[in-house]
Amino acid sequence: MPGNQPTRMIWRDITLFDGIATLPAPMGVIVAGERIERVAPMSELDPETLAGCTVMASGGVMTPGLVDCHTHLVFGGSRADEFEQRLEGVSYEEIARRGGGILSTVAATREASEETLFAAARPRLQALIDEGVTTVEIKSGYGLSVADELKMLRVARRLGEALPVRVVTTLLGAHALPPEFKDDSDGYIRLVCEEMIPAAAAEGLADAVDVFCETIAFSVAQCERVFEAAEAHGLPIKAHAEQLSNLGGSAMAARHGALSADHIEYLDEAGVAALREAGSVAVLLPGAFHTLRETKLPPIAALREAGVPMAVATDANPGSSPIFDPTLMLNFACTLFRLTPQEALAGMTAHGARALGLDDRRFSDLALGRIEAGAPADLCLWNVDTPAALAYAVQPGRLRQRVFNGEVTHD
Ligand code: NIG
Ligand code: FE
Repeated sequence: MPGNQPTRMIWRDITLFDGIATLPAPMGVIVAGERIERVAPMSELDPETLAGCTVMASGGVMTPGLVDCHTHLVFGGSRADEFEQRLEGVSYEEIARRGGGILSTVAATREASEETLFAAARPRLQALIDEGVTTVEIKSGYGLSVADELKMLRVARRLGEALPVRVVTTLLGAHALPPEFKDDSDGYIRLVCEEMIPAAAAEGLADAVDVFCETIAFSVAQCERVFEAAEAHGLPIKAHAEQLSNLGGSAMAARHGALSADHIEYLDEAGVAALREAGSVAVLLPGAFHTLRETKLPPIAALREAGVPMAVATDANPGSSPIFDPTLMLNFACTLFRLTPQEALAGMTAHGARALGLDDRRFSDLALGRIEAGAPADLCLWNVDTPAALAYAVQPGRLRQRVFNGEVTHD
């Protein structure tokens, strides 16, 4: 090998979806060390360049490593019993009134040790990795006390150290009202602002702060207080908003420069305009739409027209989206929300990265979610004929190679 240059790897004659679009010509992608060095049509790669590279594969469809920008992967217990109750006709609200729903997961999560939570979350994360995920966001939100929220975030960080995947953590203290604050929702928000956020920031455990802005959770004014506390600690913000009703949470979040507004089935025109002006991402969660048998569609056409970037994520969680399959979400995004396959793919690559601030916009120079020179080499090679086929068929097991940070982890 000449000098101390890193070994170059090439994927040649591939059909390339680069994070935004599928390129027309057969492409070559050259990786040196942890970074993508060159992306070019095969016709532009001279024999000398090719001779200096190890051929990793010839042909196939390549996409950026998938970015799942919204998950609740760390949790205790299971809600399979509630699933059965719901099938028998008991409503989600009734289950919550009986102490079930989010609060039943909170009880199980509080009871679980860090070790137990880690062991339970690991195979869930492995399932995402095996289907092409290289970057995943993991929220807290089932602890709802300072100690238990930090415990969840620590588990999320440990998962990122143990497995070949980038983990981005989000503090979701304002997810639900814990039983000990039953009649004092403002008191709980004070705890989130004055103790939880400072503690998570001091320990470097949270990369962002999220809220659940909804009639059954927290008001727009309460969520705004949480955002102000996050800003005071230099943490970016995002919101679960307009999932069940239109409170204007997304517009308020956008005014605070939110990375994203998530769910947004009930988002109105003003909300769409606010997201556009702020450059916030609309995160679509078709798994929750499906599981809750929601009928109100997010305003896809208006978002598209306004040029608001649309991300797609699993929302993997024990209640509203017990789905740990990212490529199934590509299919759901198309069949349920009528995204094009290219839009769905961009939603789980370039726009997913943007929803995490990892697209080189404000918080990072990583440029994740794109296949371009200089970006980290997070890549997936798939056994499909066209990129659209990833969204077309529901068929796990099509991942041929996965590259994380320049290392081939699946072959
Ligand atoms: O993203 N919308 C709020 N929170 C979660 C669901 C939490 C649960 O049911 O456990 C969501 O859908
Ligand atoms: Fe969620």
